[in-house]
Amino acid sequence: MNFFTVSAFIIYFSISAGESCAKITENLHYSCMGRNLSYIPPSIPSSVQNLDFSFNVLKHLQKTVFPVLSYLQVLDLSRCQIKHIENDTFYNVKNLTTLILTGNPITYFGPGCLNTLSNLRRLVLVDVGLSSLQLQMNNLTKLQELRVGTNNIQSVSLPSIMSTFKDFSLLDLHANNISMIKTDQTAVFREIGRNMTLILSRNPLFYIEPGAFKDIYLRELDIRSAFVSSAAQKAGLQALYGLNVKRLMLGKYRCDYKISSSDAGYLDGLCYINFYEVFYYMKERHNVPINIFHCMVNATIVTVKGGIIRETANVPFHEIKELYLISNQLDTVPGKQVSHLHTLEKLVFTDNVATQIPDFIDMPRLQYLDLSSNQITLTSCCTFFTGTPQLRYLNLSLNPQIGLTMEPFDGLDSLEILDFHRTRVVGMGYRSLFSNLKYLKHLDISYSSITFVNIYCFYGLSNLKILKTAGNHFQGDVASYLFSNLTLLEHLDMSYCRVVELHPSSFKNLQRLRLLNLRGNNLMTIDFLALQNLKKLTSLYVNENSITSIPLHVLQKLPTNLSEFDLSSNPIDCSCSQTDFILWIIQNQNILKQPEYIFCKTLSPSSDFRATDFDIDSCVHKKRLTIVLSVCFVTVVVLLSLLVYRFQFYLQYCCILLSGYRTPGQQECSYDAFVIFSSYDEVWVMNELMENLENGVPPIQLCLHMRDFQAGKSIASNIIDEGIMGSRKIIVVVSQHFIDSAWCRFEFELAQSRFMLERNANIIIIILEDVEERKTKKVFGLHKYLKKNTYLKWSRDPLSNMRFWIRLRKAIIATKK
Ligand SMILES: *[C@@H]1O[C@H](CO)[C@@H](O)[C@H](O)[C@H]1NC(C)=O
Ligand SMILES: *[C@@H]1O[C@H](CO)[C@@H](O)[C@H](O)[C@H]1NC(C)=O
Ligand SMILES: *[C@@H]1O[C@H](CO)[C@@H](O)[C@H](O)[C@H]1NC(C)=O
Ligand SMILES: *[C@@H]1O[C@H](CO)[C@@H](O)[C@H](O)[C@H]1NC(C)=O
Ligand SMILES: *[C@@H]1O[C@H](CO)[C@@H](O)[C@H](O)[C@H]1NC(C)=O
Ligand SMILES: *[C@@H]1O[C@H](CO)[C@@H](O)[C@H](O)[C@H]1NC(C)=O
Ligand SMILES: *[C@@H]1O[C@H](CO)[C@@H](O)[C@H](O)[C@H]1NC(C)=O
Ligand SMILES: *[C@@H]1O[C@H](CO)[C@@H](O)[C@H](O)[C@H]1NC(C)=O
Ligand SMILES: *[C@@H]1O[C@H](CO)[C@@H](O)[C@H](O)[C@H]1NC(C)=O
Repeated sequence: MNFFTVSAFIIYFSISAGESCAKITENLHYSCMGRNLSYIPPSIPSSVQNLDFSFNVLKHLQKTVFPVLSYLQVLDLSRCQIKHIENDTFYNVKNLTTLILTGNPITYFGPGCLNTLSNLRRLVLVDVGLSSLQLQMNNLTKLQELRVGTNNIQSVSLPSIMSTFKDFSLLDLHANNISMIKTDQTAVFREIGRNMTLILSRNPLFYIEPGAFKDIYLRELDIRSAFVSSAAQKAGLQALYGLNVKRLMLGKYRCDYKISSSDAGYLDGLCYINFYEVFYYMKERHNVPINIFHCMVNATIVTVKGGIIRETANVPFHEIKELYLISNQLDTVPGKQVSHLHTLEKLVFTDNVATQIPDFIDMPRLQYLDLSSNQITLTSCCTFFTGTPQLRYLNLSLNPQIGLTMEPFDGLDSLEILDFHRTRVVGMGYRSLFSNLKYLKHLDISYSSITFVNIYCFYGLSNLKILKTAGNHFQGDVASYLFSNLTLLEHLDMSYCRVVELHPSSFKNLQRLRLLNLRGNNLMTIDFLALQNLKKLTSLYVNENSITSIPLHVLQKLPTNLSEFDLSSNPIDCSCSQTDFILWIIQNQNILKQPEYIFCKTLSPSSDFRATDFDIDSCVHKKRLTIVLSVCFVTVVVLLSLLVYRFQFYLQYCCILLSGYRTPGQQECSYDAFVIFSSYDEVWVMNELMENLENGVPPIQLCLHMRDFQAGKSIASNIIDEGIMGSRKIIVVVSQHFIDSAWCRFEFELAQSRFMLERNANIIIIILEDVEERKTKKVFGLHKYLKKNTYLKWSRDPLSNMRFWIRLRKAIIATKK
């Protein structure tokens, strides 16, 4: 292999690998994450600003690893197996603002490698085996964040130069090996200023030199799980005296729940720390009663979470605005304790086990009360809130049962948000209960086991914007009128309400509605939308209903700004009659939510297929085929009718013949001969033929249509029954008129068919006048008959006349049995 092929191969390989990087924003943002790459693909444009190169293989970092990427700001090199970083590594990417080196087993960290990065703001060195914060960061004057968690750092001491970094605001030292903090190590914090967050959680702190944090101002200090023992914590908190911190987080880091043996003064150190907000993630149970709040009386925001507290003592909070008591297994809402707290604005008491709501007395500022996720069971709510005239937010969701009696929201006139979801609410649905809540904007009564029977239930909620009533039930067509006066409503959730049908006027006045959720009902149509005035609607969910199709006129009237239309999980009828609808689905996938879940219903659920895969062309073919077939059918029918009309007598004859043929022999011949003749020849027949034959000896009984046909019977049946079938012989009087007469031709043809069916039948032809041979061909069979058989020719000559009658008589009698 020569050099050319090698480089060609490398280039080829590089391009294909580069293409494997995902483009997130053209020219700006690329992700090569997890591609097993050992170089930066040349396909990455030099304009790139954000490059995620995590989970690749870049063992040795040096200048040549990175091409010149002058615009690169964010470089993520997490878990790239980097061991070695040379001084000049970032020379070509010197404008980085964020460098992430998480999870690399770095053994050599070039002391000058960060010097080129004078724009760096975030440096993430989590889990890189770092043992000290003494990095050469002289040039990182814009640094804001230094994240060095999960390393082996033993000292919080920062390089002294950092005290000049004006923007520095976060030092994350979680999960290191810091066991001791001495006053000289905190000097830089003291100088940095008031905006810094210091995270020391999950360190084995054993000793803090008292006063080490004196006069230090921090924005946040996180010391959750930062001490080796509770004794170390008690001493540590005391050593923090003089610290000023806006937000103090203490307690346990995560769910490492413990029973601590401790003394009652466990949290006493807090009394000497100045904090505004305290977050205590307790997760521990003390074997002695502790007054948790004792040193929190000056705090403004207090959160205690995850503890086992039996009761809250009466705490004279001075300035408290927000109190959060979450997941503490408390069985009583601290009504007495918080009553008369004139500063309290927000009380969150959730995920506890309280069963009752106490009276809240004299709390003029209380705006927000969250009692969700408790065990509250009440027969009569909500007279407890008489002392809370400012209450705007009341959350009673996720409780077992709350009963509402007369005027339940009296004194809560300022309420804006009311949440009862997943709490069984007794007493709503029959009456209007909200008439005084004219400021209510948000009402959630989802899954509250309510059956609405009264259309005035929401009477008075003239400002309501959000109404969630999912999982309830509407009696009759109450749903069609219930919302009619909520003219400001923007969001209506009626999912899973077993609604079968909605009246066209249901949402007539909801002209501001933006979201309508009807998921999981039993609707068959959305025709109610066709008449609506929902111009603002952008989201419509009718998935999981029983909709088989939507007529074109409804689709055409859908709101113009609709951008989220969920139609999935309906039994869509994909027959060819619905091609307009399916075509609409295929063309409007941009507004359809999860169009891949819109399935065409077939007989077996396993063969249902995506509506977007429906083959409309097959319907076009089918349609064409149907048209062609219908045209053919019509043609055939028309042809057949013409034929039937033309040959109606033959058909009739056939029918009679077939029915007659079934009983041969039963027919008694009543005439000797049936005479077929043209009425123009009637004179000859009456004067000559009848005269000579009927009055001769023996007399021959002739069947003559004008004399012997039965009245009231059709001519055709007469011809057949009386004439042809009722006579033994048939006499055909051939003349010019005979040939011209359709009736005569017909009779003759019938006679011949009898002759063919019954061998003993016989036809005697009398030529009354000469007829051109050409003309005899007009009568079916006559020409052939004349050629094959002898016939009698009438003549006026008396001698041959006599012979004629003798021969005729013989011919008739000859076969007479
Ligand atoms: C990653 O690439 C190296 C060669 O660069 C190769 O030996 C290894 O098998 C690759 N690993 C994976 C998972 O593809
Ligand atoms: C790396 O840079 C530092 C100072 O920036 C210097 O002291 C050191 O000698 C350099 N190391 C190498 C291998 O060039
Ligand atoms: C430090 O940054 C300045 C520009 O901010 C630059 O001129 C200087 O070379 C950098 N120092 C080193 C050691 O790279
Ligand atoms: C943590 O630091 C102590 C000394 O303070 C040392 O003995 C110990 O080995 C260190 N632990 C680790 C995991 O490096
Ligand atoms: C404090 O830091 C935050 C970012 O963490 C920043 O937005 C804010 O401007 C800083 N304030 C001061 C006074 O430096
Ligand atoms: C609360 O503040 C008052 C006055 O500012 C002070 O005297 C008192 O010691 C403080 N209490 C605690 C527990 O910090
Ligand atoms: C009410 O509380 C529940 C549970 O804590 C929460 O999920 C819900 O969002 C809250 N409701 C409102 C309107 O904030
Ligand atoms: C809606 O308002 C009108 C006029 O104010 C009133 O007549 C009607 O009863 C109201 N309907 C409901 C369901 O509240
Ligand atoms: C539809 O959306 C556009 C752009 O967001 C907006 O200007 C227009 O007013 C909306 N139309 C209606 C009827 O709300």
